[in-house]
Amino acid sequence: MAALKILVIPGSLRTGSLNAKLAAAIAHELVVAGVEVTRISLADFPLPIYDGDLQAKSGVPKNAVNLKRMIGVHHGVLIVTPEYNSSVPALVKNTIDWISRVHDPQETRGQVFRDRAFAIAAASGGRLGGARALAALRLILTACHAPVVPNQLALSFADEAYDDKDRLKHAHDIEALNAMVRQLVEFSQRMM
Ligand SMILES: Cc1cc2nc3c(=O)[nH]c(=O)nc-3n(C[C@H](O)[C@H](O)[C@H](O)COP(=O)(O)O)c2cc1C
Repeated sequence: MAALKILVIPGSLRTGSLNAKLAAAIAHELVVAGVEVTRISLADFPLPIYDGDLQAKSGVPKNAVNLKRMIGVHHGVLIVTPEYNSSVPALVKNTIDWISRVHDPQETRGQVFRDRAFAIAAASGGRLGGARALAALRLILTACHAPVVPNQLALSFADEAYDDKDRLKHAHDIEALNAMVRQLVEFSQRMM
């Protein structure tokens, strides 16, 4: 049987990003669960701020098309987002906006979102762990018709959440991570 493939996308470009670190920790657990994981950086898919005039003039940028195609060869997608001013960073929203404008003539509109499982996680140094960014991200993905698994992980006090091997050290965080990973794997398997 072909391997289950899950794409992991950290929503921060920052060196030392808490969200990139969480994405790595979740990717590790997915690999342990037997999943073939692709972990990317959005730094490799730079995109201008969405502008309808730009799209009318030059079409959707190649990086958005490439990223959409990369999503299309995976059964599941995990987005790990920072929280900026109680919502998702422009980077995450702008990336989703561009992907939602890629139209493949062989597909129905929104198929790339509809046909795979999505999971969301956030990390923040604060007490809420990016919970408001997760609410915003769930709304955005749902508007794109993406099935988003119910379990999610909001990692609070993320700068103190790891042991010296970069594994989560608090039982409640480990439980939330495992519950989300289990659901993501289960929902992604249905998309195979
Ligand atoms: C513009 C801006 C707004 C922020 N707003 C919030 C916020 O609303 N809630 C929160 O928990 N952290 C907020 N933060 C702090 C980020 O959670 C923190 O910088 C985090 O480390 C960013 O993610 P990263 O480490 O993956 O880059 C904000 C940071 C920036 C730069």
